[in-house]
Amino acid sequence: MRLRRSKIIGTGSYHPPKVLSNFDLEQMVETTNQWIIERTGIHERRIVEKGEGLSDLCERASRSAMKMAGVKPEDLDQIIVGTITPDMPMPASACILQKKLGANRAAAYDLAAGCTGFIYSLAVADQFIRTGCARTILILGADILSNIVNWKDRATCILFGDGAGAAVLQSYEGTGGVMGTRIRSDGQGVDLLKIPMGGSACPATPESLGNGDHCIQMMGSEVFKCAVRSMSEVAQEVLNDFGLDVKDIDLLIPHQANIRIMNAMTRQLGIDPDRVMVTIDKYGNTSSAAIPAALDEAVRRGRVQQGDRILLTAFGAGLTWGASLIQW
Ligand code: UT7
Repeated sequence: MRLRRSKIIGTGSYHPPKVLSNFDLEQMVETTNQWIIERTGIHERRIVEKGEGLSDLCERASRSAMKMAGVKPEDLDQIIVGTITPDMPMPASACILQKKLGANRAAAYDLAAGCTGFIYSLAVADQFIRTGCARTILILGADILSNIVNWKDRATCILFGDGAGAAVLQSYEGTGGVMGTRIRSDGQGVDLLKIPMGGSACPATPESLGNGDHCIQMMGSEVFKCAVRSMSEVAQEVLNDFGLDVKDIDLLIPHQANIRIMNAMTRQLGIDPDRVMVTIDKYGNTSSAAIPAALDEAVRRGRVQQGDRILLTAFGAGLTWGASLIQW
């Protein structure tokens, strides 16, 4: 029997043109180009100009994905935006994007799963399609971390960048497509990576503004260890679900958090480094945008051929993590 599955029929991405180099950061905090490259693998990142919002980035990535997919705005049944940096607390950026695209039929909502936002969105969209509740869904991973980073904290401000990645999923009957996804979280880790203030528990006060509590705070080395362990484990679990070995994977697209995290998990999984997609040098850690933007780059550069098996794996605040296996 042929099963109903979802398949990615188009990808798109967008990074703002403004480059922030390590040398620029040398002028802002006590750091060096050499330290950043050796400890993170990042050479430069892209950041938005004032006035550019999340839905602007999403619109560009979405239009590019929809063009590749050959779908019109009115074909979309849902729009899901994986993000922790919406345009505004309310309404959802997915609704703002819906308006910009004119996707009037779609149900639109945001999904907050830290840097794992795209994998979570993929898991949710895949379920709606498998159950027959939706036929065509636009999913995004997008974040503007430059607006929530503490530019005085050298341990975090050197890491992050802005961007958006999109994919159009459509129902089809056959083998391959989105084979399976596992998502995980561990709320015991909430304090390892968070923005303490500005939400409903601790609203902004005039005193709190400016002391860094409205910005990302991270216990870097703890997060580092959890990221390596969690991404390796969940990626292996997804492979086990399908009786596959790392040798069966043509391309691994890990979350682009730190080249040392990516190298460590690549070693743990035992995958050939030539089969790992790396974009962190150009864009830094763009949170939930990292995976879909890297997938788009791989597709457009011909690094993905029909029938290829692609393994995606991400980790982020929550803690959240997950992996997805796709056959192109
Ligand atoms: O996307 C979501 C998940 N996020 C991540 O996965 C990020 C995970 N963490 C990391 O990538 C790394 O922990 C960091 C890049 C954030 C930090 O690298 P590290 O090798 O873990 O450094 P560290 O925190 O252990 O600090 C080592 C030293 C410290 O100095 P002392 O105490 O040894 O004198 C830091 O103050 O490096 C210092 N340091 C810096 N030095 C120059 C921290 N940041 C910088 C900097 N430039 N930018």
